[in-house]
Amino acid sequence: MDYGKELMQHLTEAKQAIEKAGDNKSLQKVKNDYISKNGIISKYMRKMRDVPKDEKKLLGKAVNDAREAFMKAYSKKQEALRKEEIERKLSEEAVDVTLPGKKLDTGHVHVLNQIIDELTELFIGLGYTVEEGPEIETDEYNFEMLNLPKTHPARDMQDTFYITEETLLRTHTSPVQIRTLLKNTMKKPIKIICPGKVYRRDDDDQTHSHQFTQIEGLVVDEKTSLSDLKGTLLLMARKMFGEERQIRLRPSYFPFTEPSVEVDVSCYKCGGKGCSMCKHTGWIEVLGAGMVNNAVLEAAGYDPENYQGFAFGVGIERIAILRYGIDDIRSFFTNDLRFNRQFR
Ligand code: DAH
Repeated sequence: MDYGKELMQHLTEAKQAIEKAGDNKSLQKVKNDYISKNGIISKYMRKMRDVPKDEKKLLGKAVNDAREAFMKAYSKKQEALRKEEIERKLSEEAVDVTLPGKKLDTGHVHVLNQIIDELTELFIGLGYTVEEGPEIETDEYNFEMLNLPKTHPARDMQDTFYITEETLLRTHTSPVQIRTLLKNTMKKPIKIICPGKVYRRDDDDQTHSHQFTQIEGLVVDEKTSLSDLKGTLLLMARKMFGEERQIRLRPSYFPFTEPSVEVDVSCYKCGGKGCSMCKHTGWIEVLGAGMVNNAVLEAAGYDPENYQGFAFGVGIERIAILRYGIDDIRSFFTNDLRFNRQFR
């Protein structure tokens, strides 16, 4: 029997099978069929004992040649398949960079933060810095050092969430005044605003929210006067409600300021003639302010003989409600996107 001829025959078939293999898996199968331990070609090694001695060498060489030829064809095919695969992937995953992209919904700044940002920008332009304080505050900073001792009737103005007898959720941003004054041991001039959340024990309804937002302002130095306060508030009113606005100060009462004022802005709807917006008075109340009470300065270690200052506190929701005609304070917090997106 001519093993050499048979081997050539098998090799030809094997090469055809290699050529036909369409993927790596079928290529591996061909390899397995022909040159694994029991493969068609390998098996010829076992025929060694059947051949006469002088032909053993020839058979061995024939089998090795066949395997070598197989492996050459195999490797070539493997490389071709690999290239094909890359080509396929490249064309399948090709990106047309000229196609219009998908628009991602990115969200936007909440209307309350927009107003805070606007006011912050104004005050930074006037040389103020921004201070922050904790929302969990001590009774001492929230009330006592602001001239509101425990028995003071004005505490009733701010129904309070107490955590313990001495700690509470701050009812206003005014305690940041105290923190700032205490921190300023060098008694340098102070010009700060502090935006932040405040809390009151109110039942939520259209006009009440147990959580809302304020910006506090505080200026302390050796010469600040009520007219400085008025000029500052006028700038703020115009920034919020338009360049034509006027303001007026009405006497009021806050324990931490003396004198205290309530600030009205001329109605931006009717320009001051009187309309339903301003209840036909021409004026809309927007915030509280005053000259820092001597008791507050003293409590924080400032000599009222040498230092004076003004302070103001403004509700951000109130400004937004007025500016945009919002009829329910809860809209700011329920996060209905139909509401929020109006302020994009
Ligand atoms: N803290 C006051 C409140 O929440 C608002 C206020 C009034 C703040 C007068 C001030 C001020 O700084 O001078 O009702």
